[in-house]
Amino acid sequence: MPKLYLLTEHSPFMMSYVFITDSDNAVVIDGGRESDMPHLKEIIGAGKISAWILTHPHLDHIAGFVDEMKKNEITDRIEKIYYNFPSKEFTVSCPTEVLPHVICDFYKALPNFEHKCVIAEPGLKTNVDELEIDFLFAGGERYLTPRPNLAVNESSVVFKITSPGMRSVLFLGDLGPEGGADLLKNCKNKLKSDIVQMSHHGHSGVNEDVYRAIAPSACMWNAPEWLWEEEDIEHEPGLWGTWHQRKWMYDMGVSEHYVSKDGTQEVDLMSKH
Ligand SMILES: [Fe+2]
Repeated sequence: MPKLYLLTEHSPFMMSYVFITDSDNAVVIDGGRESDMPHLKEIIGAGKISAWILTHPHLDHIAGFVDEMKKNEITDRIEKIYYNFPSKEFTVSCPTEVLPHVICDFYKALPNFEHKCVIAEPGLKTNVDELEIDFLFAGGERYLTPRPNLAVNESSVVFKITSPGMRSVLFLGDLGPEGGADLLKNCKNKLKSDIVQMSHHGHSGVNEDVYRAIAPSACMWNAPEWLWEEEDIEHEPGLWGTWHQRKWMYDMGVSEHYVSKDGTQEVDLMSKH
């Protein structure tokens, strides 16, 4: 049975997951910032990094990856890199995008790893040992309106990882409510999954109807303590805080939660059926 680790923060907040296959190869998802890299490398171990999937070009997801690519020390260990980012021009032009420099650094370092890159188009399927990775959705540059502050989150790729006898795991990245509505419209019958990564760290992400279509039995939250305990508020119409989303999952009968504030942890992938 493959293993899945939810990694805890060594930076203020971030997202980082690692699958280790039966052959000891790794699939990394995002990875966090530069200060998260030493711990990530401990979890990966000495095996190959068969795939590194980047959900969207924000610092708390890809700054560590970009730094590693600049240093070019572990590039040889990586077989394939999957991403589907908006262009540098789009990202930099988002009026409220506060930290666009990471995407500039990404494109600057690209010559070091371009030959390993695959654009994660919806419909793409790939295998890493016993894992199947299905890319379902990519927000791209579609969501500059109505909330320009969320345009880069909304560019996230959504994918599902399955394997015979293993609980299915759906990753939403930092997808927001507009992308979530289109995901539901385009992929409704593909969303059902046993485990879901709560979008955008569990706050201001996709709405409740998306989680109801996923109907998970477990949730993974990239939430440090302050975010996990966030008060029950609606930040803007349709943008719900963490406490409110915890209530959604309670109402859906989900009691199995993996939260990054509790440290790095292995997620139970054993199928209950
Ligand atoms: Fe994030």
